[in-house]
Amino acid sequence: MTNTYASTYTDVLIIGSGGAGLTLALKLADLYRVTILSKLTTDESNTRYAQGGISAVFDDSDSIDSHIQDTLKTGEGLCDPDIVTLTVKQGRESIDWLINQGVSFTHDTDHGSDSPRLHLNREGGHTHRRIVHAADATGQSVISTLIERAQEHANITLLEHYNAIDLVTVKSRQFPKGQVTGAYALDSQNNTVIPISARVVVLATGGANKVYLYTSNPDIATGDGLSLAWRAGCRIANMEFMQFHPTCLYHPDARSFLISEAIRGEGAKLLLPNGDPFMHLFDQREELAPRDIVARAIDHQIKKYGIDFVYLDISHKSPAFIKRHFPNIYQQCLKFNIDITTQKIPVVPAAHYTCGGIVTDSTSKTDISGLYAIGEVACTGLHGANRMASNSLLECFVFANQAAESILRELPNKTIPKTIPPWDESQVAKSNEEVVIAHNWDEIRRVMWDYVGIVRSDKRLSRAHERINLLKAEIHEYYSDFTITSDLLELRNLVIVAELIILSAQQRKESRGLHYNQDYPEQDNRTPPQNTILSPKHYASAFIKND
Ligand code: FAD
Ligand code: SIN
Repeated sequence: MTNTYASTYTDVLIIGSGGAGLTLALKLADLYRVTILSKLTTDESNTRYAQGGISAVFDDSDSIDSHIQDTLKTGEGLCDPDIVTLTVKQGRESIDWLINQGVSFTHDTDHGSDSPRLHLNREGGHTHRRIVHAADATGQSVISTLIERAQEHANITLLEHYNAIDLVTVKSRQFPKGQVTGAYALDSQNNTVIPISARVVVLATGGANKVYLYTSNPDIATGDGLSLAWRAGCRIANMEFMQFHPTCLYHPDARSFLISEAIRGEGAKLLLPNGDPFMHLFDQREELAPRDIVARAIDHQIKKYGIDFVYLDISHKSPAFIKRHFPNIYQQCLKFNIDITTQKIPVVPAAHYTCGGIVTDSTSKTDISGLYAIGEVACTGLHGANRMASNSLLECFVFANQAAESILRELPNKTIPKTIPPWDESQVAKSNEEVVIAHNWDEIRRVMWDYVGIVRSDKRLSRAHERINLLKAEIHEYYSDFTITSDLLELRNLVIVAELIILSAQQRKESRGLHYNQDYPEQDNRTPPQNTILSPKHYASAFIKND
């Protein structure tokens, strides 16, 4: 992989090498020079850890309309129906494109070992089997194939350990909200900041679930793209809808390893420590209710009985079936001395997915000219108040495609950008108290888990807001005084994300989808449901003052 960067100019700068960023790069590179930044290695992303699969209509008994209706129902009144239709209609095409790139999905051996039919998983909210997958490690299969294709392409430059700091924008009469001309990035292995000019910049930085103490996400998920876009002037929507996955492995050394919903799709039951099932008390769909319902049910039982976890049990299936369908989960659990063919799996909910994000249109454009956002960082309108399982990877591929079509239309008329001024470090010194960074990281994540988690209240939200405000001021002061490091950049972004989530949650005076406030336990259906849209202009005094 390339790690010294000779040029500071590219046609398209893509920040992020997950499913969304790599797909877009491959769709542009025959015509344009593309540079992709990764904060760590190219293969480290949420996409890499995806298990269950990608939703798409393949089963004869399924239909596009059924997938649309399931998505709308799960999103509880806040999905954009046009966006849902656009996305679902591109499901098959997206899978075909991945297969053409070389991704090998699991086939349905029930129809013979050479069956051309894809095997389809079932997950919560879906009324049909429609999850295309590569055993239980779909993301690994997708990401390794796309990286191979990107490495083969002469027009794609992959830069590892480059941490995007901020976007560079210029305002003009033609572009009163701004036009992006590039970004600054920290080369974290050489501790230098490089300015990169680009005709188009794409944020593909993934979600923000590291803002919570317990999460299924890897370390890269610190909401950088959200913060970069917010500081540059973009609107951010629906940040109160943070999704908690119901079943992460409960083990001190497991770092919230995910136990795929596909296991429940194959009949696994959730049980109390005494062996009693409980999901029937919460929803008639039981274990296959959407995630918000299952996560809240588990949270409720944990609090009610003062227990640390509940169990998930798939041991009624044969060992051969379990090992064939869930080889990765079987092996990972075995490392912690849990044999899932005979033993119950201890599980807890953990922060998993950011439904809100940068406001984008159907072509993935943001409020700023030349700036696109794709994948988990964007809020397209697909998920509404709750994302249905396996609709996220689908969104990555569909909106990478939408962005590619738009960029290919627009790039011929885009001028070469101006050179970006060099990064100025003359006013900062090397830090002599890095403990501030580690402390504030921990504090943000604990505050968010305790006060802005699965069940919220007005009092908890205002407590969280007070603390996050203090932390924000302290982090800003530190950022102004000391040389940047990757940890500091992430912390600066994380505190913004925390505040955006709290402000959004405070605005919603009802419970809907993933947002549950015990002071307003019901949906407010007196008027049509509204998205929560925060504009940096509106919050200028709250944010710009301190950043
Ligand atoms: P990511 O794949 O997260 O990639 C983000 C990229 O941005 C990374 O390369 C990172 O290095 C880079 N980056 C971030 N900040 C910066 C910065 N400042 N500078 C430079 N680079 C930066 N969804 C499904 O649909 N089906 C599933 O089965 C499924 N399973 C999942 C299992 C797990 C354990 C997890 C965590 C998520 C799962 N999801 C699943 C959700 C899905 O994987 C993600 O929503 C999706 O992969 C996001 O892709 P992305 O391309 O938007 O971002
Ligand atoms: C899972 O496999 O349970 C994760 C699926 C998703 O997040 O969509």
